[in-house]
Amino acid sequence: MKGLKKTCGCGELRAKDVGKEVTLMGWAHRVRDHGGLIFVDVRDRTGIVQAVCDPQKSPSAYEVMKDWRSEFVVALRGKVERRPPGTENPNLPTGEVEVIVEYAETLNPSLPPPFPIRDGIEVEEITRLKYRYIDLRRPKMVRNTYYRYKFTKAVRDFMEKEGFWEIETPILIKSTPEGARDFLVPSRLVPGSFYALPQSPQLLKQILMVSGVERYFQIARCFRDEDLRADRQPEFTQIDIEMSFVDRDDVMDLTERMLRYSFKEAFGIELDVPFPRISYYEAMERFGTDKPDMSFDMELKDVTDILSGSSFRVFADAVRDGKCIKAIKVPQSFTITRQMVDRLTDMAKEEGAKGLAVIPLGEEKSSYVAKFLTREELNNLAQRLSAERGDVLLLVADEWEIACSALGRIRLFLAGEMALRRKGFHLLWVTDFPLFKYNREEKRIEPSHHPFSAPLDEDIPLLDSDPLKVRGKVYDVILNGNEIGGGSIRIHNSELQAKVFKIIGIDEKMAEERFGFLLRAFQYGAPPHGGIALGLDRIVALALGEESIREVIAFPKTQTGSCPLTEAPSPVDEIQLKELHLKIE
Ligand code: AMO
Ligand code: AMP
Repeated sequence: MKGLKKTCGCGELRAKDVGKEVTLMGWAHRVRDHGGLIFVDVRDRTGIVQAVCDPQKSPSAYEVMKDWRSEFVVALRGKVERRPPGTENPNLPTGEVEVIVEYAETLNPSLPPPFPIRDGIEVEEITRLKYRYIDLRRPKMVRNTYYRYKFTKAVRDFMEKEGFWEIETPILIKSTPEGARDFLVPSRLVPGSFYALPQSPQLLKQILMVSGVERYFQIARCFRDEDLRADRQPEFTQIDIEMSFVDRDDVMDLTERMLRYSFKEAFGIELDVPFPRISYYEAMERFGTDKPDMSFDMELKDVTDILSGSSFRVFADAVRDGKCIKAIKVPQSFTITRQMVDRLTDMAKEEGAKGLAVIPLGEEKSSYVAKFLTREELNNLAQRLSAERGDVLLLVADEWEIACSALGRIRLFLAGEMALRRKGFHLLWVTDFPLFKYNREEKRIEPSHHPFSAPLDEDIPLLDSDPLKVRGKVYDVILNGNEIGGGSIRIHNSELQAKVFKIIGIDEKMAEERFGFLLRAFQYGAPPHGGIALGLDRIVALALGEESIREVIAFPKTQTGSCPLTEAPSPVDEIQLKELHLKIE
């Protein structure tokens, strides 16, 4: 190694480099001894190039190379040559050339890797995570790691140009309410007291607005102790943004331009702006969810009026009780079997519906429900859903939210079964979310986003009379049916804030205990402000076509929140516990 300097990346060599003397350092990817000639594919993060050693010409290099095995760390010097005609490898960017080795050195041997360094391997995720350093050598993971960096850098560049300052907020803080459970850190110096890890920098970024920063952003690590899924990790990264003297359109416009710029810079993907905007109500009405996947159609229709006088009891009763009836059309190209009906019915029931009515147009006799419907009712249904003979209608009668979400769920499932999704990046804003929601289990009103979001001006009077009807200045940004970000214009007036706290059952004393520092700050000249946070992991995963955000995080946690590489979480010494004034039960 002494005196030897790496001169280029293995994957960078091309035909134009023929004749150059290069020094490569990397990993022996594949070693083949062809009785006489040794071929070694040398790999580093830039890719792979073939090196060849002829024992006749370089006997001492040959002596070193014949001991090389997979994943040995190696160095070699040699000349780039064009591969002999017929031996080029069109699958490799470096496939036109090879390096004729003159000098070779083993920098470090390696145990045989637990799995091969290539894409498309079938290895349990737990093994991949235990040997993450090897997993991260695979071409796809190198790409993911690189593009995540590129995207983050593009975001920083854009934000800087727009006059934002990146400011770090502390990790050891007082609990921030984002609706998940906190991770707690016991204090040694203040016995019995705990820090919380931030679920987001929400309160601190608002305080930065009071301090006059005006335009803040941070690539912020957030911590939430919640049940994990493919798109959730206990620690994850947000692009966190807050701005003063703005309204919703300013935040949405900035977010659109930021995403457009960064997608182009990092991934070469063109996004169309502005993104369509629909209200929460419209999203539920048309797609049965607050995060509609716009990559296919199949919209829900309201058919309450058509069936209000129906002789089918379920429908008539529902309408009488003020509920509604929603429907979607399944085109005749898709055959709905008996088993499929059962499966769809189960899905509807999981969303709280009591059943699913199936109406095959043209074969009404075979349907339990359709037999009760008049010709006129059937014609009207067909017309409302632009359906014809052979199409099948699926209906749910229930409370608005249940009927919508049951069919919304079925809509998503059928899109998969019928391969309806169009390629591309379908973005959308959902706005005007209800400010509060009713928690049936705990029988209380809670904020649907967080308690600092402002109500729509025209809905402020409803705070006193009918709080569940109040809509907020709240917006989510959705990409292909995934929530990639959310934010709001905040309350900056302490009276309004106190009113909102009261509605969600936080009295003055509790408010002072939990958020006293914020409320105090608001009394010293808080500017109107608002912001948003975007899930960086989710965005990068979607842009790269990954199913799980774990594929774009260098060291993610498993479903049970553990790290197979470092074996965190792990027990600690008795002495440490004692210092922290803790006892394990
Ligand atoms: P919110 O809770 O909606 O808003 O979070 C913003 C975005 O962060 C992503 N996200 C996650 N990604 C991975 N794993 C998780 N466990 C996880 N939880 C959330 C989502 C989500 O849209 N303070 C507010 C923002 C604001 O009002 O400015 C907030 O945190 O993509
Ligand atoms: P039942 O009266 O429960 O035997 O249901 C008769 C038919 O009506 C079945 O096909 C059910 O799936 C359907 N059904 C029952 N309740 C509903 C509902 N709330 N909405 C739509 N269809 C329903």
